[in-house]
Amino acid sequence: MASSMHCKSIIGRCTVGLRRVNDLKVAACTSWMQHRPLSTKFPEFQNNPQLQSHDQIYQFSLENPDQFWSTLARSRLQWSKDFDTVKDCDIIKGHIKWFLGGQLNASVNCVDRHLDTLGDSTALIWEKDEPGTEEHVSYRQLSQMVNRISNMLKKHGVKKGDRVAIYLPTSPVAIASMLACARIGAVHSVVFAGFSAEALAGRIEDAKAETVITADEGVRGGRKIPLKKVVDESVSKCPSVKRVFVYRRTGMGTLGKNDFSLDDEMAKESDVCDPELMESEDFLFMLYTSGSTGKPKGIAHSTAGYLLYAMMTQKHVFDYKVGERFGCVADIGWITGHSYVVYGPLLNGATTVLFESNPIYPDAGKYWEMTERLKLEHMYLSPTALRMLLKEGDNFVTKYDRSSLRKLGCVGEPLNREAFEWYRDVVGGGRCDVIDTWWQTETGGICITPRPSEEGAPILPGMPMRPFYGIAPALVDQKGEEVTGNDVKGALCIKSVWPGMARTIYGDHQRFLNTYYTPYPGYYFSGDGARRTKSGYYQITGRMDDVLNVSGHRLGTAEIEDVLDDQEEVAESAVVGYPHDIKGEGIYAFVVLKGEHDMPLDKLANELRGMVKTRISSFAQPDMILFAPGLPKTRSGKIMRRILRKVAANKPDELGDTSTLFDPSVVDAIVEKHEEVY
Ligand code: WT7
Repeated sequence: MASSMHCKSIIGRCTVGLRRVNDLKVAACTSWMQHRPLSTKFPEFQNNPQLQSHDQIYQFSLENPDQFWSTLARSRLQWSKDFDTVKDCDIIKGHIKWFLGGQLNASVNCVDRHLDTLGDSTALIWEKDEPGTEEHVSYRQLSQMVNRISNMLKKHGVKKGDRVAIYLPTSPVAIASMLACARIGAVHSVVFAGFSAEALAGRIEDAKAETVITADEGVRGGRKIPLKKVVDESVSKCPSVKRVFVYRRTGMGTLGKNDFSLDDEMAKESDVCDPELMESEDFLFMLYTSGSTGKPKGIAHSTAGYLLYAMMTQKHVFDYKVGERFGCVADIGWITGHSYVVYGPLLNGATTVLFESNPIYPDAGKYWEMTERLKLEHMYLSPTALRMLLKEGDNFVTKYDRSSLRKLGCVGEPLNREAFEWYRDVVGGGRCDVIDTWWQTETGGICITPRPSEEGAPILPGMPMRPFYGIAPALVDQKGEEVTGNDVKGALCIKSVWPGMARTIYGDHQRFLNTYYTPYPGYYFSGDGARRTKSGYYQITGRMDDVLNVSGHRLGTAEIEDVLDDQEEVAESAVVGYPHDIKGEGIYAFVVLKGEHDMPLDKLANELRGMVKTRISSFAQPDMILFAPGLPKTRSGKIMRRILRKVAANKPDELGDTSTLFDPSVVDAIVEKHEEVY
């Protein structure tokens, strides 16, 4: 590898890999034209006549979870030491442990063990922001990158158990950095490279990370994002940080005292690094997500259980076959990127797409031009993107060849009927399964999904329908009783334990228990509400707590309120969601000012939006700001958000009973102001 490092030279060109993949492509195409069975068949159970249908295997996974999961863990993962205890779980106590006594390494499972069979095949296709540009990285090249970064981190003092913050765009070095952490036993904490300096600092501090890996700049939709500058600002507030590695994406900027060029440091290292042997329950990574109270929580995932679940779901939900190209367009800053860009696909030896861009750059045909060029068999995206694209017209889709597509997945928010039908009929030409998957950062992988299922089983719009293997959903009422039968609603809980579930909130196990295990003892509580239809399928009705879902991004209302309340003119605020055509949910802020104020309201609204942008991220900015004379509160001082939600949704005649309010007249004043939003 050349010593003057430049992004292309790190990754290199993979001609052999490309040729290989082309061969595989032909093979894959022919096989899927001949027969398209769903992956209900498990080689592990092929000699057992009782375990042939999907329903039999699903029942078995619930009735004999130890046998089901241990068989799969042994046959699908590569262990350095076999486990002796399948699980040690007590759901009442939120105590979850799997595969105790076993040792393995995630990077060995994702990369090393494919080298003999798939070394020259493409592991990563980096779909760069620059339209039409892609770079291919073979498994062998990925291995070299991972080993070099591992050696680099070790040389700079990063040790097993240390936390490493990764603030990088979706790119091969980002994936190699995640896997390098895994190789040396460090816990990665990827922070979406769109979060502000303050949000990043909060996450670095909470994790007490000493190491940050970033890039000089990110590039998205043709615009440069000054990532290093953001990191500099964060690091100035984080005394824990000892070193920052900077990947050269655009070649801008200079390095400071504790900064190192990732490219140069990698070039100095050997591409052999012995993997650390990790216990099954050692943390693989943590990932921050929003909750209903102020501070984001670092959801911590284990090594063995998480890997097995990500691997199983990527394979079986999408019926993935080696040689196919898997196009999950999520950013690695979210759990979808972790499980379905990185871990799931690589564990299965897949070719996975790293999508650096956005769906409308240079135009609304981006995904479909990419589908044609890369011959993708699988797409996995968000309902928000679909709703945005369908408004741009069918031509952006139909002018490209999408005949390679087989499975069309979707995640993050409810997939409404219109978007479902457009995805199925226009994008997929009616040939592909549309798979609406429900899951969460905390669940590690997909939990409710129409596939796998019995061959040809129906897929209905508007719901993820069926539980995955090992998942026993339960709907629970306010008294904590499980609601039985069909055509019922309740809090969406899961009463089984599965290997991929989160183990704790980093540094705050009590909050973990309070959030997920105390509300309904004996159940994992998701925070969502759901309905079981007449036919027994699951349909998600939305969050039951003060968490918003804006374009598939999870945001706590309290996080936004904390920022608004810091403006000196603001006395208090309340943030709620309202139905938004494209984003699913929009952000509506009710802001109460302190008596006299000089600033014109439009200016104040701009300032408030600016504050949210700098302190959280641009996607957290309120769409609507209403300056209210007061907030509707109960006599005990609790804000009645139910009322604010109705005002925000423009349904002032559905306010319901306001008599328990301390001052019901506030509501009339707010409704009157409803026209004057900023
Ligand atoms: C929340 C989890 C899991 C990856 C992306 C988001 C909502 C997720 C669906 C779906 C309706 C969905 C839920 C959930 N959600 N998938 N198919 N239908 N709602 O991960 O940031 O952890 O958010 O997203 O409200 O609780 P996340």
